[in-house]
Amino acid sequence: MTQRFHLGWFTNFTPDEWNGPFSNGGTPWDGAFYVEMAQALERAKFDYIMLEDKLAVSEAFGGTSEVYLKHALGMAPKHDPVPLATLMGAGTSRIGVVATMSTLGYPPFLLARLCSTIDHLTRGRFGWNIVTSAEDAAAQNFGLEKLPPREKRYAMAHEYMDVVYKLFDSWEPDAVVMNRQTATYADYRKVNAIHHEGEFFRCRGPLNTVRSPQGRPTLVQAGGSPSGRDFAARHADSVVCVTQGTASMRAYREDIRARAAAHGRNPNDVKVLFLIAPVLAETDAEAHAKHARVSNDPNFLEQNLALISAITDIDFKKYPLDAVLPERLTTNGEQGSLDAFQKWGSNKTLRQLVVEASGGIVSCLPMVGTPESVADRMSLVMDEVGGDGFLLTTPSLSVNRRQIIEVTDGLVPALQRRGLVRTEYTHTTLRENLRAF
Ligand SMILES: Cc1cc2nc3c(=O)[nH]c(=O)nc-3n(C[C@H](O)[C@H](O)[C@H](O)COP(=O)(O)O)c2cc1C
Repeated sequence: MTQRFHLGWFTNFTPDEWNGPFSNGGTPWDGAFYVEMAQALERAKFDYIMLEDKLAVSEAFGGTSEVYLKHALGMAPKHDPVPLATLMGAGTSRIGVVATMSTLGYPPFLLARLCSTIDHLTRGRFGWNIVTSAEDAAAQNFGLEKLPPREKRYAMAHEYMDVVYKLFDSWEPDAVVMNRQTATYADYRKVNAIHHEGEFFRCRGPLNTVRSPQGRPTLVQAGGSPSGRDFAARHADSVVCVTQGTASMRAYREDIRARAAAHGRNPNDVKVLFLIAPVLAETDAEAHAKHARVSNDPNFLEQNLALISAITDIDFKKYPLDAVLPERLTTNGEQGSLDAFQKWGSNKTLRQLVVEASGGIVSCLPMVGTPESVADRMSLVMDEVGGDGFLLTTPSLSVNRRQIIEVTDGLVPALQRRGLVRTEYTHTTLRENLRAF
């Protein structure tokens, strides 16, 4: 029998679908659309909703921002996920809210203080998706000429984590005493400076926020390269992954678990969630027709290629669509996503690769069918992979309410009927819910 597994939802603070038959208007900037999304996912007992982020308007495709802005492609416009996570937290009571913040963008002190504050505001349901940024355009918004090479980004990120851990721990758990007799709110002996002086960062501390319900936020990461995986295994409570097919999913999870054990962690404390973009309908045939409609959209090819260009910092406009890529491409950006996309050795043309890539970022496996058949497939996949769950997203590049409802009121009940996912939250904090099974 399949072990129970976890569910996350992957989205970002970009326009909802604005020009389709079930669109909501395309101006979700007051956050209400996304708060409603979080409430629906909480009804379906998701572990968390994760807000992706980037810190630039991309010009990766053809050297211009035209395609991104024209199609509002999930790259721009994109609003800050952190205040949105707070709003989502206020509109819900059990689901975890995870926001992406880049170690390139925030000084460690500000980030630690922000995480601590939001963890309080959400009563222990805040998560931080740790990214190091992957594009030169983002680096140029922070005074750098180019993105530092990956190894240096991860070396900096390790020290960054060291600093924020010290800051999170700069308030001992019993520092707040609130003793009326002695008129003492906090015991100063239990709030200590950290005096960090490292290769990349200097920070005195202590944090000026009270220790938060989770102590430190739940940590999410998506390492793809060996150093990225090692980082994820050392720090993350949940690792999100895109890779192709069950054999590769299983290998990825086993690698993360082995690395976690090598770092002295319990591998069960690291939940690996695999990205999928289910296409759901009343019958399998309708679902396949729907999938074909999405990939035959005249804008689909250009939009997806542009998105993949932005993620990988490679200009795919320069490659002919009906030819095989001339060589295995490499990037200082997201190599894992690039490899999942280019399927080097498969001899597929660029056009075939794009058609197979759902949602621009590649999903691990196609999941097309009725809620019942997709639930069965998810169960089989989990049996083969070994755990720990899925990170769901929509197959089209923008999201509408109907797509959410198909998942929350169709797919999840089918999974629940099979005993595969939770029917109630058993804990109050995100980390505890992730560790519940
Ligand atoms: C599901 C998923 C979500 C990601 N979300 C973001 C994000 O929001 N912002 C970002 O800059 N990078 C994001 N990334 C990229 C990762 O942080 C990482 O850079 C990438 O997986 C490549 O791994 P590497 O850094 O080890 O090469 C995401 C990757 C995946 C697979």
